[in-house]
Amino acid sequence: MNFYKKLAESVQIQYIDGKPVVVGQADSLKLIGVGRSAFVFMIKNTTKAMKVFFPGLHNIAMEEACVYQMIKHIDFFPNIYESGSNYIVIDYIEGHTLFECLTLGIPISEKDIKEIDFALYLARKKGLNPSDVHLRNIIITPKGSIKIIDVARFRQSKKCHQWEDIKSAFYHFYLKPHFPKRFPAILLNGIAYLYKKIYQKRLYVLNHPFI
Ligand SMILES: Nc1ncnc2c1ncn2[C@@H]1O[C@H](COP(=O)(O)OP(=O)(O)O)[C@@H](O)[C@H]1O
Ligand SMILES: [Mg+2]
Repeated sequence: MNFYKKLAESVQIQYIDGKPVVVGQADSLKLIGVGRSAFVFMIKNTTKAMKVFFPGLHNIAMEEACVYQMIKHIDFFPNIYESGSNYIVIDYIEGHTLFECLTLGIPISEKDIKEIDFALYLARKKGLNPSDVHLRNIIITPKGSIKIIDVARFRQSKKCHQWEDIKSAFYHFYLKPHFPKRFPAILLNGIAYLYKKIYQKRLYVLNHPFI
């Protein structure tokens, strides 16, 4: 059986108290991240990562694989190597997500923001609509370049304002000389929670203008 397929099949995910939990995995996989749709593992002794989707979200694997194929030659995104019904294999990206940068006090520069904008511009030129671009989906590498991950929603037609809102906060607050550059994760999660509530309300009003 195919090496990656076998690895993906070693990952056993169960819902415990409504939350997905990894209850089994091959020794050669190291869990490095979790999001709203998948667990992400580093494949030990390689430079690759395997994203294994939660049961019931398998259709997202195919969609994300398809988007990664479209942006394969853009350096700001990981390369894709393989995909299966519930997994994708992409470059492992060393570094810190913007979320981690904020919790660790690693500075984020205007150059980083411009580079992210450029990466999104290149994705748009391929006919995509970059969506779900937020603090946990952008990594700054040890060499200081940026990589964008989690591109599953890049083909949606709905407009997503998340990156524009993050950029506004960056210029209005973060860049100000006396504004703090380090935040506890609990505070950032609280802001993200409130943002989501306000964001959903804003979307609802936009979609129902006569209410
Ligand atoms: N290629 C990668 N290299 C390194 N870390 C990654 C990679 N892909 C994902 N991660 C980590 O795993 C987390 C979840 O991955 P993500 O693709 O965003 O999943 P989801 O679609 O569920 O949000 C990310 O926030 C990041 O910390
Ligand atoms: Mg994500």
